[in-house]
Amino acid sequence: MNLKDIRTNYSRETLSEKSLREPFPLFEQWMEEAFESKVNEPTAMMLSTVSEAQKPSSRIVLLKLFTRMGFHFFTNYNSRKGKEIEANSHVALLFFWPELEREVRIEGVACYSSPEISDQYFSERPYESQISAIVSQQSQPIENREVLEELWKNKELSSKGTKLERPAEWGGYFVQPEKIEFWQGRPNRLHDRILFVRSEEGWVVSRLAP
Ligand SMILES: Cc1cc2nc3c(=O)[nH]c(=O)nc-3n(C[C@H](O)[C@H](O)[C@H](O)COP(=O)(O)O)c2cc1C
Repeated sequence: MNLKDIRTNYSRETLSEKSLREPFPLFEQWMEEAFESKVNEPTAMMLSTVSEAQKPSSRIVLLKLFTRMGFHFFTNYNSRKGKEIEANSHVALLFFWPELEREVRIEGVACYSSPEISDQYFSERPYESQISAIVSQQSQPIENREVLEELWKNKELSSKGTKLERPAEWGGYFVQPEKIEFWQGRPNRLHDRILFVRSEEGWVVSRLAP
């Protein structure tokens, strides 16, 4: 297999900065279109963080809520990402919807979601996932799979279907965007790139060379 010969010509859509004043309506529209187009895991986004030692790392998390405040995901605050966010709250998010030939890049600051938002989302998760969030010390080494399954079974037995409380170390972050870039694939690699940068006066829109 020659990777150099793999080439996709992008020609589905165009993207113009004309009539675009701010990024949220466009993001909402693109998310809806990703959902309607049956994109696999449309809410999956890559979250990149930077450690105290200035080393970047990335992983996928799921977008669960977005408002003008920002983009919310839920995780374990003691995980590797949680520790890196504590040391450096500047993060990047990336969506790639290949079926729509689209990419969205977001850069901003990660803040803790309110306990109310975290409690609400925790309570909406399936019971089995709540147990997993309670027993999994995310990102910590574990001896083997059996240990984890044993913890899960014990918690299920001891809780007997009673309401589970959200653990203090599990909850949401929201990323307050400073920059949002929308990328639409176009023929001959002359892609459309529209960048929004937050300023004191509002969003500044520009077009970037592909
Ligand atoms: C499709 C998909 C969705 C995921 N969603 C989440 C999520 O919403 N929250 C989360 O903590 N981990 C999620 N993960 C797991 C993370 O990618 C990662 O393994 C985990 O958060 C530990 O990362 P860390 O050790 O860098 O903190 C998801 C993974 C995949 C592939």
